[in-house]
Amino acid sequence: MKISKEFSLKKFNTFNVSETAKFIYEVDEISELKGILSDIEDQILILGGGSNILFTKRFEGTIVNLKNKGINIIREDKNSILVEVCAGENWNDFVIWAVENNYGGIENLSLIPGNVGAAPIQNIGAYGVELKDVFYSCLGIKLNSLEEFEMKKSECKFSYRNSIFKTELKDKVVITSIKLNLTKEKHNFNIAYKELKENLSNSELSLKVISDEVIKIRQSKLPDHELFGNCGSFFKNPIISLSKLKKIKKVYPDLPSFRFDSNNYKIPAAWLIEKSGYKERVNKNVSVYKNQPLVIINRGSATGREILDFANDIKNTIYNNFNIQLEEEVLII
Ligand code: EPU
Repeated sequence: MKISKEFSLKKFNTFNVSETAKFIYEVDEISELKGILSDIEDQILILGGGSNILFTKRFEGTIVNLKNKGINIIREDKNSILVEVCAGENWNDFVIWAVENNYGGIENLSLIPGNVGAAPIQNIGAYGVELKDVFYSCLGIKLNSLEEFEMKKSECKFSYRNSIFKTELKDKVVITSIKLNLTKEKHNFNIAYKELKENLSNSELSLKVISDEVIKIRQSKLPDHELFGNCGSFFKNPIISLSKLKKIKKVYPDLPSFRFDSNNYKIPAAWLIEKSGYKERVNKNVSVYKNQPLVIINRGSATGREILDFANDIKNTIYNNFNIQLEEEVLII
């Protein structure tokens, strides 16, 4: 365990902003966690890899950064394994481990930044797969009672970029590990995403082939946060009703749309943002990324406040242009 006071959070957030926190605890051993939590009197923020958070001011509380490590196979049979992964593991390192050991189910989630413990919070997803597709349960501690718990998938209320941890249990629990069901032999390769299908339909599929292709696509579209601070998609893709879609399509017939459920369609926020001219609008410190305008980038020394103002400007413009209210994917502090 390491405690620091008045600490710069620059290395703890992939937007690379330099806000500070009153205290930060870096915790390697879960056995120490209960004692730490019971000592903290002010507001607690549990932080993983900092890849989905925007600090816009000094955090007037205590940050707990989990760094516990470990991957354990709980049980296995001929076709599948149940694996428990500690919250402090880097998500992509875990995906690499799975692919190298020929355990399938998360290869489409290659190269997603952040830590394992944060993955269930927003039900991370990419290229046709979401965490919930392989999720079995998560283990953690309740912040008010310090009681340990294990929550099964059905209790986590997963949906698109959402879970009980962003709603009823927001700021009420710390997730210390997750358990996932992965395949061992008969893998369900998912190449439904357009570019995977185009690039791989003539290839012999394997976990490695899919993972490599996903990495290639991500590297071509998404910026490296070491070069340009960012948190991936800043907003969720909006889900709108068929009647609203028809209304907008009368004015913008080229608006792409994907069926979400019987009456609703998901539309790309990237398209709305590009159509509103943001690719051309490059401020000194902050802009959208040229290859993927849903990603807002810190061009060097932006403050969290500047990034937030820019994001709010996008939100207002999209509302005025399309009567659509964008919702942040990123947590704003
Ligand atoms: N588009 C444009 N202009 C662009 C780029 C994209 O108009 O410059 C439009 C196109 O119509 C394109 C559509 O946006 O078909 C979708 O783009 P893309 O496939 O890149 O994905 P996305 O919907 O913008 C989502 C996730 C990403 C995930 C990809 C791939 C959300 C909020 N984002 O983005 O997740 O990697 O799909 O599955 O759902 C993240 O959550 O941080 C993230 C990067």
